[in-house]
Amino acid sequence: MAKWSGIIAVVSLTVFLMSLTAATVLPIHPYLKVEDTFISQLYDTSNYGFLQIDNGLARTPQMGWSTWNFFACNINETVIKETADALISTGLASLGYTYVNIDDCWSRSKRNSKGEMIPDPKTFPSGIKALADYVHSKGLKLGVYSDAGIFTCQVRPGSLFQEKNDAEHWASWGVDYLKYDNCYNLGLPPQKRYPPMRDALNATGRTIFYALCEWGIDDPAKWAGKIGNSWRTTDDINDTWISMTTIADINNKWASYAGPGGWNDPDMLEVGNGGMNYHEYKGHFSIWALMKAPLIIGCDVRNITADALEILSNKEVIAVNQDPLGVQGRRVYSSGPDGCQQVWAGPLSRNRLAMVLWNRCSKAATITAKWSAIGLEPSISVSMRDLWKHKVVSENTVGSFSARVKAHGCEMYILTPQRATRSSI
Ligand code: GLA
Repeated sequence: MAKWSGIIAVVSLTVFLMSLTAATVLPIHPYLKVEDTFISQLYDTSNYGFLQIDNGLARTPQMGWSTWNFFACNINETVIKETADALISTGLASLGYTYVNIDDCWSRSKRNSKGEMIPDPKTFPSGIKALADYVHSKGLKLGVYSDAGIFTCQVRPGSLFQEKNDAEHWASWGVDYLKYDNCYNLGLPPQKRYPPMRDALNATGRTIFYALCEWGIDDPAKWAGKIGNSWRTTDDINDTWISMTTIADINNKWASYAGPGGWNDPDMLEVGNGGMNYHEYKGHFSIWALMKAPLIIGCDVRNITADALEILSNKEVIAVNQDPLGVQGRRVYSSGPDGCQQVWAGPLSRNRLAMVLWNRCSKAATITAKWSAIGLEPSISVSMRDLWKHKVVSENTVGSFSARVKAHGCEMYILTPQRATRSSI
């Protein structure tokens, strides 16, 4: 009898353990698989994969260019073609900026008699298919824009209730990316309006990146991972220091939800549009890269300034953004007046850390990062590579690191521990 009750207990325990395993099939962030790391679990990824889709895209954040921040509605097929050419001639395309995205205002204000959304004949007389062919011939990809409402924000046709036909139409043109906005949404909940377009895009059989633009209203980080490859977490950016820093702070809140397959989107880059100075744009780009934000250029690439090109072309900063570990960096420490002396950091593959010392004060300041604050064991010796000076600035730093940072400026580093570690990534 005792023998049988023992067997029953073992079987019940096994069944119980199996049910626990079945209940924990959520994807595990690669970060949590790294063995024997020196980096603490400071960088919470517990919500990654919470609802992740897997359409094979967005293993790292998307990179490219979009019309909206500079051109708004003043777009036409020549601008798109010339920008594709400029992405190639500036070398930006070969650094990874491959999506050429047409934002609002590409379509005619009314659907045709067959109910189809068609390009504005005045500005896109050759049609979107011809443009896609052109962009593809350069090795680039084409994006379009629509809206999970009855109109776009500029009152062109939206795709709500027309998802299937519109998706098929775009796929037949060779479209590779859809930004899907949130205007004129009839007050219907986004959780009802965004999935039909995911299903329609998937049903086309064409691989189409799906970028949700819900402005962060209903906390999309909590649900959009099941629906799209990125989701806007904030209202629109504008080309000012206050807008950029405010948006960075809002996006920072959702760090634990980002990961390969789906990213928080704090909106497109303003670098090169003239409203911020060189140091401010450097901070904008460094923090967007560290936060694993989509890097979508928003300036006129055909007439880009040397400073903007230098910032956007920084290969080492881009590599942080595109690191395969895919953990969103975040603010880990702040001090000084109103917390304006800030340390932002995040883990990278091969047990490295990326760190930005960001001085949001109006005067130069010395900012110190203690190892405990950035999640490193205090005794670890690291080499520090400066990603803007492009050189190792210290071989054996232990305990903390300090640097003088200009007003509204930043310094960015990769920290590599000197002791060997075992890392699966
Ligand atoms: C909204 C979006 C912007 C842009 C415009 C276009 O405001 O958030 O990014 O797409 O619409 O009208």
